[in-house]
Amino acid sequence: MRAEATTNAPAETGADTIAIGLFDGEPIAHDVDGGALQALVDAGEAKTALRKLAVAHAGGNRYVLAGLGKREEFDAERARVAAATVAGRARELSARTLCWELPHHVGDAEAGGIVEGTLLAAYAYRTYKSKPDEDGGLERLVVSAHHDVSAPVERAAVAATAANAARDLQHAPANEMTPTGLAARAHELAAELGSLTVETMGRAEIEAAGMGAFAGVAKGTHEEPQLITLRYEPADATGPVVGLVGKAVTFDSGGISLKPGAKMSEMKFDMSGGAAVLEATGAIARLGLPVRVVSVIGATENLPSGHALKPGDILRAKTGTTIEIINTDAEGRLVLADCLAHAVDLGAERLVDFATLTGAIVTTFGDAHAGLFGTDDAWCEAVAEAGRRAGELVWRLPLHPDYAKAIEGRYADIANAVENRKAGSIVAAEFLKRFTSDVPWAHVDIAGTAWDTGKAYAPKGGTGFGVRMILELVAQLPRE
Ligand code: BES
Ligand code: MN
Ligand code: ZN
Repeated sequence: MRAEATTNAPAETGADTIAIGLFDGEPIAHDVDGGALQALVDAGEAKTALRKLAVAHAGGNRYVLAGLGKREEFDAERARVAAATVAGRARELSARTLCWELPHHVGDAEAGGIVEGTLLAAYAYRTYKSKPDEDGGLERLVVSAHHDVSAPVERAAVAATAANAARDLQHAPANEMTPTGLAARAHELAAELGSLTVETMGRAEIEAAGMGAFAGVAKGTHEEPQLITLRYEPADATGPVVGLVGKAVTFDSGGISLKPGAKMSEMKFDMSGGAAVLEATGAIARLGLPVRVVSVIGATENLPSGHALKPGDILRAKTGTTIEIINTDAEGRLVLADCLAHAVDLGAERLVDFATLTGAIVTTFGDAHAGLFGTDDAWCEAVAEAGRRAGELVWRLPLHPDYAKAIEGRYADIANAVENRKAGSIVAAEFLKRFTSDVPWAHVDIAGTAWDTGKAYAPKGGTGFGVRMILELVAQLPRE
């Protein structure tokens, strides 16, 4: 879907449907037919509470009146929710072009929220559906405002489009979206965006680089693993080199420590962190943000076979640390260990990783917050603040030497899991910390937020969680 801004009045945009937001207790600003829309509000047929909708025909146009609630409570997230509600109705109405009249005196963040909410809500994954979508779907969104809002509209459109691209990668089945498939997407982005370079390493190169932890996970599958590195370093960049790291296990069966069958098909989503990092990196380049980024995505399957990693095996990571395998299903931390170390070796001065790392974080936070862990308070707060702006919430949990003790190894330096599973998400984070070499680091465990979160603008399936947070994060970096 295309999104554009205009200073023309909604009726002059050629839209077949016009959305108007209603704040509690405020009259409609530009009414038609001598007050026809306000009459609906006054009659109680159009309600001002958030998520409420009314459809009306007036002055030769079709209007969707959308409740926005109290003006003082209106923010970017409420804008996303209201816009998603409107997008749903627009779909039922078989609308093609929707014009949102931006309410007076709302900021750029809210204007962007309307764009994001519309584009995210209009997303559908239909690649393998034989029948075309009956409703067709929205083709164009126009945001009409008195002043020029083209910059926030453009930025939000790029962000939401990138999140939707990450959702495509998430939804694609594991037999299509293999590590090689992800690498192909990285090459496609780099070919399209001249400012982005990509390098991919296969099994032999991963082994030759001494990345024994990553290589260990990949042993069980015939699919070629891929270490995908993207670099974006525009001439005008300032501030620290940001290392974005993503877990991209394109299918996690658990390996020899096989998972139960129930919901195992969902483990095609175990590449969600890598998908978010990949598409966010593309969006950073597309927007031409003046930041330096090195992105490292570890892609492999985790399968059992006669070649597979076994409990009791000992691996040597790139840093030299030896790891005893207790459970082959704790594979994400093995992949990330070498990816984090690789990002440090490539010059990352800040690290943030995104990973569907632990089932325990789903127990802790459900789908409302991702888990945040880290070694640097200021960096963690920057990540949390970016999440708040994006409507991708994170909540920090502690690290502590008492948790690190749990992964002390019996036969090797450390163990990849603990039998008792106590504080599973924190213990996993303590494992990752070992590979960050004192670079300020934040870890975002997205196992609960990557799919099926019930959000108004992404209720089912992949959410693209992380893409918009990353964009907010790098856009607000300190520029020393
Ligand atoms: N990919 C899973 C975590 C996961 C589980 C994500 C459910 C989303 C939903 C991860 O690789 C895993 O299997 N973690 C184990 C670790 C355990 C063996 C220490 C877990 O959480 O059970
Ligand atoms: Mn696993
Ligand atoms: Zn996993």
